[in-house]
Amino acid sequence: MKIANVLLFSFCVGVLFSCKEEGKPSLSIGSISIEVTPFGHFGNQIINEYILTNQNGVQVGVINYGGAISRLIVPDKDGNLEDIVTGFTSLDGFLQTNNPYFGALIGRYANRIGNASFSLNGREYRLESNDNANSLHGGRKGFDKVYWDVTIPVGDSSLLLTYTSPDGEEGYPGNLQVEVMYTLTASNALKIKYKAMSDQSTPINLTSHAYFNLSAWKENNILSHELTINSRFYTPVNQYLIPTGEILPVDGTPMDFRQSKSIGKEISQVEGGFDHNWVLDKEIGELVWAAILYEKGSGRQMEVWTDAPGIQFYSGNFLDGTLNYTKNNLTYHKHSALCLETQHFPDSPNHPEFPSTLLHPGQEYRHTCIYKFSTR
Ligand code: GLA
Repeated sequence: MKIANVLLFSFCVGVLFSCKEEGKPSLSIGSISIEVTPFGHFGNQIINEYILTNQNGVQVGVINYGGAISRLIVPDKDGNLEDIVTGFTSLDGFLQTNNPYFGALIGRYANRIGNASFSLNGREYRLESNDNANSLHGGRKGFDKVYWDVTIPVGDSSLLLTYTSPDGEEGYPGNLQVEVMYTLTASNALKIKYKAMSDQSTPINLTSHAYFNLSAWKENNILSHELTINSRFYTPVNQYLIPTGEILPVDGTPMDFRQSKSIGKEISQVEGGFDHNWVLDKEIGELVWAAILYEKGSGRQMEVWTDAPGIQFYSGNFLDGTLNYTKNNLTYHKHSALCLETQHFPDSPNHPEFPSTLLHPGQEYRHTCIYKFSTR
């Protein structure tokens, strides 16, 4: 990003502007610094990496492509700052066809919609079937594969990402205006606030698809990570990972994470590994803790808070070691990292018994996810 653009950029957002080091413009707002560096080109659009750093050295990086989290650097119990999310050293990495949504914003509908179709107001909508006969993560060109505008709200230590999904995109009705705010706090939390409005009724289910390994790949698998999930029920799925419609108790099953246990303890009893939606114990719209992930070697702990009704725990079952341009030349193989995606339930448009994902004109979709980092 040329210095003149950054000057204009900083003038537009009305924040103090300083040069942290020669040629690397940065903005300082309170205790958070924001650095903007070029990250490549997507068609005729410049892709930048926007890096927020707090006074503890915690960093989150976000790129315009897919609104993806490109880095998340947090301390271990000895104060070592290390990157705990998967990603790539260049935009070419993110553009790989087999990129499994690393760090990306997901939509219009996160997770699956069975038979790539749903009915709404007496009309059937056909979607792209990009996962067997089903639609996954918004279709062939979901929100993970589009350009997101990024601005810095006046005096804020956040990044505001915006995207307009036109009526009919990937088969969905309505022009959908989406805003996602990434905020890094002084207390080492990453807040993700989603908002959306549509001029026609449409299903919507947005999430973030960051993959975590709290050991920063000192162990190239997450099987010894300890997980707690604030849930007594889960939604079982068929062999295509489409919900059966049941909501079953976790009690007495490997899905029971009410008490902390290692991910590897019972994973062999779950066909293919964990890749399920847990129903959070809460009122509709209530912000609660959904999961706590802890890795003993590093002492890193990550709490996940949300006001969404569910959380998808995915143990990286489809990672296959084939990705290029990886950070630190890492081989991301099966169970090398995991996802904790706050969300509505998969396939809700075809399950009236699940909380509704319909957004109607005049309503506002809202969803908050907070990843809080600490050590013990
Ligand atoms: C979600 C799904 C998984 C997988 C990943 C992306 O986590 O639940 O089945 O498709 O996305 O690879």
